[in-house]
Amino acid sequence: MSIAEELSALRDEALDAVVSATDLDSLEAVRIAYLGKKGSLTAVLRGLGSLSAEERPAAGKLSNEVRIALEEALTQKRSRLESEALASRISAQAVDVTLPGRQRMPGKRHVIHQVVDEIVQTFVGLGYEIGEGPEVELDYYNFTALNHPADHPARALQDTFYVRDLSGDRAVVEGESDVLLRTHTSPVQVHTMETKKPPIYVLAPGKVYRRDVADPSHLPQFTQIEGLVVDEGITFGDLKGTLEHFVKRMFGDVSRVRLRPHFFPFTEPSAEVDISCGICGGEGCRSCGGEGWLEILGCGMVDPNVFRHVGIDPERYSGFAFGMGAERIAALKYGIPDLRLFIEGDMRFLRQF
Ligand code: DAH
Repeated sequence: MSIAEELSALRDEALDAVVSATDLDSLEAVRIAYLGKKGSLTAVLRGLGSLSAEERPAAGKLSNEVRIALEEALTQKRSRLESEALASRISAQAVDVTLPGRQRMPGKRHVIHQVVDEIVQTFVGLGYEIGEGPEVELDYYNFTALNHPADHPARALQDTFYVRDLSGDRAVVEGESDVLLRTHTSPVQVHTMETKKPPIYVLAPGKVYRRDVADPSHLPQFTQIEGLVVDEGITFGDLKGTLEHFVKRMFGDVSRVRLRPHFFPFTEPSAEVDISCGICGGEGCRSCGGEGWLEILGCGMVDPNVFRHVGIDPERYSGFAFGMGAERIAALKYGIPDLRLFIEGDMRFLRQF
């Protein structure tokens, strides 16, 4: 093969290789294979020196042309591959503005907790402390010490869930007291008076349980807030003034308060407290059943029998107590017709508070 034939075969082969290179790395490999230090075209160029003086000019010219053609082909192909690579990088990194954003779902306090907090704030502002007691309670605290003796009919109003032991019998503590889920927060009154000496100003929010089927006005588990004051010289007037302050804070200045005589075993006298209907202002409407008033809580002066159970001298001290359902207060405040909405966890309902 003449040197001219060799060079033209080399050129065709090299240009084919440039065409087949699909990326910058394989293109660089082609460049090294032909034009690198050990490349095949470089070898030919180096061999020119051993040619005879007649052959050398034509071969030199031809091999230069091949080198230039190859370099041009490489340069063109490199810039094409580079712009292709750039274009694909741009499209890979592009922000897709049609992609929906990631939604944040910040939580918030449940409306019942908000209402409890508000009530707590009102009474903390009056100097009350927060009291606590267990939800799994002894019969003694839930009933007996609150002046419900064993066969008292008032127990029937608050049936509850009793705890059983492993053999299936009713669990009994210290050989005498059934274990149950507390039906009200009033047992916290007893725990408080067992551990603190008067003056006592305590507010006790917490969960309570009843053997009730859920309906628009009953829940088997709900939230109560208990208040207890024990001090020297406490009167029914103090109770009424305290409740009026609370009602105005909670429901606004236009609300009026009415106390109706009632019976609770652990207070004497006892009353139920109504507020004027926020819709009709006391005229009577559908929302208040034509009454003009809505019941919000029970209260009374602490019965001397309760004081005797905890060793407080009823001759020296007097006190008042009250208890309310947070779900009921929330329902009245926001006009909610069915208490079950508070526990169903429907976000469409809960988000509005
Ligand atoms: N514990 C009563 C109940 O659940 C509510 C109550 C009434 C609490 C009168 C009191 C009170 O402290 O004095 O129905």
